[in-house]
Amino acid sequence: MNVQARINVSLQEALRETEERYIAANPASKARQEEAARSMPGGNTRTVLYYSPFPVAIAQAKAQTLTDIDGHTYTDFLGEYTAGLYGHSHPVIMEAIARATKDGIVFGGPNREEAELARLMCERFPSVELVRFTNSGTESNLMALVTARAHTGRSHILVMEGAYHGGVLTFFYGADFPINAPFPVVMARINDIEGTRSLIRENADKLAAILIEPMMGSGGGIPATREYLAMLREEATRHGIVLIFDEVMTSRMSSGGLQKKLGITPDMTSFGKYLGGGMTFGAFGGKHELMRRYDPGQPDYWPHAGTFNNNVLTMAAGVAGLTKIFTSEAADRLYDDGERLRARLNETGRKHGVPLQATGTGSIIVVHWQSDPVGQPHDTQKTPAEARALFHLNMLERGYYLARRGFMALSLALTPADHDGFVAAVDDYCGAYRNVLREL
Ligand SMILES: Cc1ncc(COP(=O)(O)O)c(C=O)c1O
Repeated sequence: MNVQARINVSLQEALRETEERYIAANPASKARQEEAARSMPGGNTRTVLYYSPFPVAIAQAKAQTLTDIDGHTYTDFLGEYTAGLYGHSHPVIMEAIARATKDGIVFGGPNREEAELARLMCERFPSVELVRFTNSGTESNLMALVTARAHTGRSHILVMEGAYHGGVLTFFYGADFPINAPFPVVMARINDIEGTRSLIRENADKLAAILIEPMMGSGGGIPATREYLAMLREEATRHGIVLIFDEVMTSRMSSGGLQKKLGITPDMTSFGKYLGGGMTFGAFGGKHELMRRYDPGQPDYWPHAGTFNNNVLTMAAGVAGLTKIFTSEAADRLYDDGERLRARLNETGRKHGVPLQATGTGSIIVVHWQSDPVGQPHDTQKTPAEARALFHLNMLERGYYLARRGFMALSLALTPADHDGFVAAVDDYCGAYRNVLREL
């Protein structure tokens, strides 16, 4: 790819030129988008996959490589928003799925693998004494929240401003977002220890749950401090509030998630993404006293349904992934790889004197283009949308796949050479658009 240095253009002009090149290079994806828009609003069935002027459509994926329908290949640094931890078509996962398929699917009965995956999760995650499966992270959070409400007999939940916990649990646009699940909500600011403590105390008699992602992934790669989480733990215990960690993304940060790494144990945890080996997955688990009511053998049980909760493909792929690939050592290695890559990206920005800021924890990295710090999700709005688009389309052009908002999740398939190539592409981009980026 041959992008010349664009010394004196404006951000808008640079983006317009980049979009022109992108549209010319991707005729099949453009046609697919137009066709798809006839039967899906915006040609889209998952909002995060849309970006302007239209997304490239993917035809194939193998290990760390994606191929789009125009025949371009990309090194995949998005890692399917953390669900692609194993890389694409990992032979161990594919073998597990093939074996499961051979034995038949949709049994309408329990299977061996669900018990095995449940055992593995109870072993790994300190907060999980009992676990149940769902089909998505959204559903897991909904189940954790209704469990907390039913258990405490209270109504409200405390969440972080700007948090994302699923399609109907989005708190970037305020507490009363019209398509949110209608839970009464109290909003706190992440890492504001005294402010949040006061909010908890003021609302203690109505708070059923505190729900927090210990590192806000979609919120912009903002880690909760250990002190903040310790305060939440202390106040939740004092006031009988159920502390829920949403580890849908962060469970990859060690063999036992961020909770194990930080040494803070919530009452419940919600899961999703890679734990199903790349198949549709969700789970919620926690203390025996909270989960025991889902035992259908008990007279006072609460029913928890879901036709595909124990689907054999997910269960088999999940077991294979945890037992044969994502060992404790692999988790630690991936975490360290992410820390190193983030540092290299920040160093690249410094070298060019441009305000590149790579945030996150371990293998989740979010790139922003602003010098103001990203302490709260709303701080990310200081990066102009055009700056995110310019970087994103230029990285696609250079053969690197990541999210429009600068989000990346490393997979186990990425090699040191892939990391080097990515850093070199960012270096090239910063050099080419140095003047535009310095204005941000
Ligand atoms: C922290 C967090 N919670 C929940 C979800 C929702 O998971 P799903 O997309 O499986 O419903 C996501 C998805 O990105 C997430 O990042």
